[in-house]
Amino acid sequence: MRQHVNPLSHFFQLEKDLPEVSKLFDNIYLPIHLDIGCGRGNFLLEMASSNSQWNFLGLEIRESLVIGAEKDRVKLGLNNLSFLFCNANVSLKNWLINFGKSKVKRVSIQFPDPWFKKRHRKRRLLTSSFLTLLTENLDTGSELFIQSDVRSIMNDMTNLIDLSKCFNSKFPNSELSTISNPFPILTEREKYVKSQGLKVFRQIYYRNSNKVK
Ligand SMILES: C[S@@+](CC[C@H](N)C(=O)[O-])C[C@H]1O[C@@H](n2cnc3c(N)ncnc32)[C@H](O)[C@@H]1O
Repeated sequence: MRQHVNPLSHFFQLEKDLPEVSKLFDNIYLPIHLDIGCGRGNFLLEMASSNSQWNFLGLEIRESLVIGAEKDRVKLGLNNLSFLFCNANVSLKNWLINFGKSKVKRVSIQFPDPWFKKRHRKRRLLTSSFLTLLTENLDTGSELFIQSDVRSIMNDMTNLIDLSKCFNSKFPNSELSTISNPFPILTEREKYVKSQGLKVFRQIYYRNSNKVK
């Protein structure tokens, strides 16, 4: 998990083509849960196995992780799940247009790389322009789930989301470390964090009907 790549390097600025949606999922009419920065994919492999009424799409910038996750997906015979190698900040825009607005019903960003140093902050996944992109492409009622063990990145993400005024939080007055995971399956990072007895900060949002400003 700690072998970072620099998403701003030239190589990762190249936009990837999205395979036809019918090549990603058997039933293209199911709602899509998009997990951005999905790592080795264990969360999605288990989610897809136990939720046949959803399609799952994992985006990951480290190709070796995507190759491993895809191998497991094929082994398990899961046709409601795909993993794609990309820099989500670069490639997601056209992909969302391709899916059509009504398709992605849930987005999760789980334990995004914190990029602590101030000069590295622009490498973070949830930038203001990336949030705008998500906001513009989510229907009212769609869900956004974020979690992290790093309080400062969680504060930055919640501030951005609150400032947009386009999402209502499910637990507006709760201390973030008391919000439990809505999913029964832990990500790789969450398992590690739990084993270390560290806190996890979470929030669940729903897209409201406000227009993006
Ligand atoms: C700390 S790991 C967490 C992985 C997984 N979500 C988990 O909870 O175990 C963050 C992941 O996000 C990926 N990532 C970072 N920036 C990305 C980007 N711009 N596009 C796609 N994936 C990205 C990293 O390669 C890494 O696998």
